[in-house]
Amino acid sequence: MTVQLGDVAPDFSADTTEGKINFHQWLGDRWGVLFSHPKDFTPVCTTELGEVARLKPEFDKRGVAVIGLSVDPVESHRAWASDIAETQGHALNFPVIGDPEHRVADLYGMIHPNANDTLTVRSVFIIDPAKKVRLTITYPANVGRNFKEILRVIDALQLGDRYQISTPANWEDGDDVIIATTVTNEEARQRFPKGFKELKPYLRVTPQPNK
Ligand code: BEZ
Repeated sequence: MTVQLGDVAPDFSADTTEGKINFHQWLGDRWGVLFSHPKDFTPVCTTELGEVARLKPEFDKRGVAVIGLSVDPVESHRAWASDIAETQGHALNFPVIGDPEHRVADLYGMIHPNANDTLTVRSVFIIDPAKKVRLTITYPANVGRNFKEILRVIDALQLGDRYQISTPANWEDGDDVIIATTVTNEEARQRFPKGFKELKPYLRVTPQPNK
């Protein structure tokens, strides 16, 4: 199955390092990041899980629940956890799904047979509180992800939902943002009291509203 932007994130029950969960119930009204890694006891994956553990307070601040997954069973994740803590300096502080039967991996299209027909690739899904998929990305096995980029996208999505704005190329928190084309100039004057610059009728920029 392919999961696309705007789809309702498929629900499932699964075994995790923190016990059995029902995914939608576990998310509740939080945002979610579901990410897969290929295999336990592998180098890139070890650094990635340590990095997500390090950044967990940043996800918490944004009301985002993070959960990992690989096709190894939960007992293997638990055995690997001490290596992650030892080598990365950050112990696992979020659940990791064990998916030896590929039930969740198949539901989300996390196995790309032409890359590897048994292991999950590095997929990321950002899911909003309405359970809609808002971002999908896929990295190959030999390239570790930049989880600060995932946080940047979450900031942009949350800001966009709140203020009807978009974010330009390379936007970082605090930079100017773009007013949606559906907002008239008159509405923009009310909504963005710091003012805006009209570079083109379709390209109007304003200081980030919540700064
Ligand atoms: C790794 O995490 O280092 C890795 C996992 C599977 C294939 C290649 C690399």
